[in-house]
Amino acid sequence: MSGPGGVNVLDLEPVSEDFLVEVVDGLSSSPRSLPCKFFYDERGAELFQKISELPEYYITRTETELLRRHGSEMGESIGANAELIGFGTGAGVKTRMLLEHLENPIAYVPVDISKQRLTDSAAELSRAMPALDILPVCADYLQPLQLPKSRRKPEHVAVYFPGSTIGNLEPEIAANFLRRVCRLCGKNGGLIIGVDLQKDRAVLEAAYNDRAGVTAEFNLNLLVRANRELGSDFDLPLWRHQAVYNERHGRIEMHLISEADQTVHVGGAESHFSRGEKIITEFSYKYTQEGFVRLAVSAGFRLARVWTDPQQLFAVFHFTIL
Ligand code: AVJ
Repeated sequence: MSGPGGVNVLDLEPVSEDFLVEVVDGLSSSPRSLPCKFFYDERGAELFQKISELPEYYITRTETELLRRHGSEMGESIGANAELIGFGTGAGVKTRMLLEHLENPIAYVPVDISKQRLTDSAAELSRAMPALDILPVCADYLQPLQLPKSRRKPEHVAVYFPGSTIGNLEPEIAANFLRRVCRLCGKNGGLIIGVDLQKDRAVLEAAYNDRAGVTAEFNLNLLVRANRELGSDFDLPLWRHQAVYNERHGRIEMHLISEADQTVHVGGAESHFSRGEKIITEFSYKYTQEGFVRLAVSAGFRLARVWTDPQQLFAVFHFTIL
């Protein structure tokens, strides 16, 4: 299948049966939860794009600024003749900034769960860099994957994982994931990863409880999607968004709070909620620089370089293999 711009997408998108199983499982576990990867249907991807432009949401802006200021150093640190694998690269703005600083990149393999986002950004990139071999994969990159082979053989592999999406994983899962990335990189390979740093509770909570209510809509869209795709009967006005910083764990927790005693049906299962009860929809872990280096080192990496902004809001790390 050839998409717009002549880019073929390898389609390993999770199917709706996976969504159903995970929703039913999540609602019956304690505490109740829903998996955050399902935020990104078409509307969800659009809402996240809006979030990234909010005044309170400093993450995307800060990371982009780090690329603008230090992109050439990052490119040099990675080195020439690389294959770049991008995990969750979304709209592709940051990836393109990085690619533009790479000397003779051999191929680019973006892996993203949102097919729309992937197709659009790959087509745009192929217009901007027609010589680059672009091999997009629509998949959940947290699952083991067989990635496509590029036409020319790269000298080394660089994995790019922007956006602090690593923060969605509990640290132990994150370490396992990084161990797999480490194997994927192989000899001479490396990882460029964006990580949100621990900071003042007020700054964090404002970023996830924005005044315009976009994050609330993003969170509630998970229920809208479940109703549409799974035939569940979440009564939207009876659910409220809330994000809190759990300082002990160093993570933002996104919650949906039930505003009444109520029953929800999904896939033949029934869940009772009492008023005030919550569903956890996302963890977003924040790290100290040292804490993140420790995690990556435990997974087999060594720190090559790190870039941060003057306020130390965010960090971009380059790790290589031990
Ligand atoms: C895309 C996972 C990095 O955790 O900040 C934004 C998602 N959730 N607002 C984040 C998100 C609520 C975002 N990541």
